[in-house]
Amino acid sequence: MTIPSIPTRGRTLDYAASVYDLLEPVCLLNKQAEYDLTILNTLDPQPADRILDIGCGTGILCQMVSARLQPEQGGCVTGIDAAGKMIEIARKKRGSNHCLFEAMAAEDLSFASETFDGIVSSLFYHHVPLDLKKQSLSEAFRVLKPGGKLVIADMHTPTTFMGKLVSHVSRWFFMQPQIAENIRGVLPELMVEAGFQPPRTVAHYFGYISVFETTK
Ligand SMILES: C[S@@+](CC[C@H](N)C(=O)[O-])C[C@H]1O[C@@H](n2cnc3c(N)ncnc32)[C@H](O)[C@@H]1O
Repeated sequence: MTIPSIPTRGRTLDYAASVYDLLEPVCLLNKQAEYDLTILNTLDPQPADRILDIGCGTGILCQMVSARLQPEQGGCVTGIDAAGKMIEIARKKRGSNHCLFEAMAAEDLSFASETFDGIVSSLFYHHVPLDLKKQSLSEAFRVLKPGGKLVIADMHTPTTFMGKLVSHVSRWFFMQPQIAENIRGVLPELMVEAGFQPPRTVAHYFGYISVFETTK
């Protein structure tokens, strides 16, 4: 079934959806499994939790989260992405009764307030401009239960020469000013502005990706 994409000023990846699972391991220098596991262990989902993945792509992380949940106890993960093609592939490859995927814009979530026990997002925030970064973090704050955890892994101020090179080349090669905002290091302050606790940096990958953990 064709799933329409949701209009957004974010950079959606409909055009790359069919090859995304082949490309991502290359972009993550074959460390994708370790990287995803760091995010998963930081989120530390409990069996009965309801989890949201913002900008889920083809749903690899959602599938890993779902393996830690117990659907009989109400455990369920929902991945959202504005690219309809990503959601089509995610549903086909990784959908189950407790691993759900919806086409939705991160800046306009259709969930009720305080729906989720935990929220995760990987490599999404460098795809949206500053105002949508703010709006989607406010939405994340709204749909998270009090005390719930938010884990974000994304491009951030580079920590190595190679990290600087890769992030600045990406910013200009993809003509993506949204990346420049991440390089400037805006994410932690935006999380606090949205109402979250000051985030803790859990890990750095490749000199340009940081993993942050915070709570509502
Ligand atoms: C680099 S991919 C990351 C996918 C996945 N989280 C991962 O780690 O592999 C960024 C995703 O954000 C999605 N995206 C861009 N703008 C969006 C928006 N406003 N709302 C929801 N998803 C969006 C894109 O379609 C794309 O699938």
